[in-house]
Amino acid sequence: MTGPIRPTEARPRIGRLILESPFVLAPMAGYTRLPFRMLCRRYHCGLVFTEVTTSEGIRRQSAQSLHYLESTPAERPIAAHIYGSNPAVMAQAARTIEALQRFDLIDINCGCPVPKVTRSGAGVALMRSPKKVQQIVDAVSSAVSLPVTIKTRLGLSPDLPNISEVAQAAEEGGASAIFIHARFASDVHSGPPHLEALARVKAERSIPVFGNGGVTCAAHAITMMCETGIDGVMIGRGALGNPWIFAECHALLAGGLYQAPNLAERRAVIVEHLHCLHELMLMENEFRRRRNHTAEQATCRKFRGHLMEYLAGMQGLSALRRELMTLDSLDALVSAIDRVLACNPDTP
Ligand SMILES: Cc1cc2nc3c(=O)[nH]c(=O)nc-3n(C[C@H](O)[C@H](O)[C@H](O)COP(=O)(O)O)c2cc1C
Repeated sequence: MTGPIRPTEARPRIGRLILESPFVLAPMAGYTRLPFRMLCRRYHCGLVFTEVTTSEGIRRQSAQSLHYLESTPAERPIAAHIYGSNPAVMAQAARTIEALQRFDLIDINCGCPVPKVTRSGAGVALMRSPKKVQQIVDAVSSAVSLPVTIKTRLGLSPDLPNISEVAQAAEEGGASAIFIHARFASDVHSGPPHLEALARVKAERSIPVFGNGGVTCAAHAITMMCETGIDGVMIGRGALGNPWIFAECHALLAGGLYQAPNLAERRAVIVEHLHCLHELMLMENEFRRRRNHTAEQATCRKFRGHLMEYLAGMQGLSALRRELMTLDSLDALVSAIDRVLACNPDTP
């Protein structure tokens, strides 16, 4: 059913899990590590996902794969987002994940178009065979008691629009919800989302359907829900540099006022994010075999992408971008951030 949403109805249920908010953070490799997820949860994001992790690595209990599953109770509810194409391996990985007792659901990647993933038949390549999707979801949901979901696309390309078949296969395999990036694999991440496809799948299925693609403000998220009748909205790049987008969505849905953070609040969050990332990198360095840089250097590198998003639109960014290549201490990075903020005192 499409039309206005009542806040009390906007608490999607995924299996036994009831989300506090219908707005969830999309998995984004290289960005959605624990520190950023924690920030999004603080601002009312309903659910977060780990970075995509190989089922084969989890099955082998590789230290690196398990590190991707690092989490803390404060960020729950959280989905373990995994990829693979072998139902038995996926099921074994799911058992390992459940045994960790830190996840609320297991999400299967059926949308990644990166050759490294699709080469083995995983990611969006699974869309070629709805039957395979069903087998995997069935194997995983039979192996664990956690709810199982898939994150997928509309199809490989506009001439192969088989999301309806894939969604049906997932539901019949036992999926508790479907997250749909409303673009084709051939679009990668560009172009407007196809809302009519979301509305169709929502009407066809009885499990919750979440839409994703192109949401950069609360008004987009509410429009996506109202025009399609979907149960929730997944936000990707719109949350980068702006974890407050979830507070904005929450306020608009509840009919309340949203107060954007001022410059001092932004700075505090940027610095907190940086320091939390450093703590994570210190842990990561303990098991990394080849250490060609320190945890502090790794932090500075990994934070570059986030920082450019936090400061997007501000003056002095091109100079900072160049400078970032040479900065490898947290203190130097914070000083550089402060110089940019000082040039932009009127940024809201
Ligand atoms: C840098 C980056 C990394 C991504 N990594 C993943 C991933 O690991 N798994 C996945 O299912 N989607 C991944 N995505 C896709 C996003 O989850 C999301 O579907 C896509 O960005 C569209 O949403 P948006 O328009 O709100 O950004 C990634 C997207 C970006 C930009």
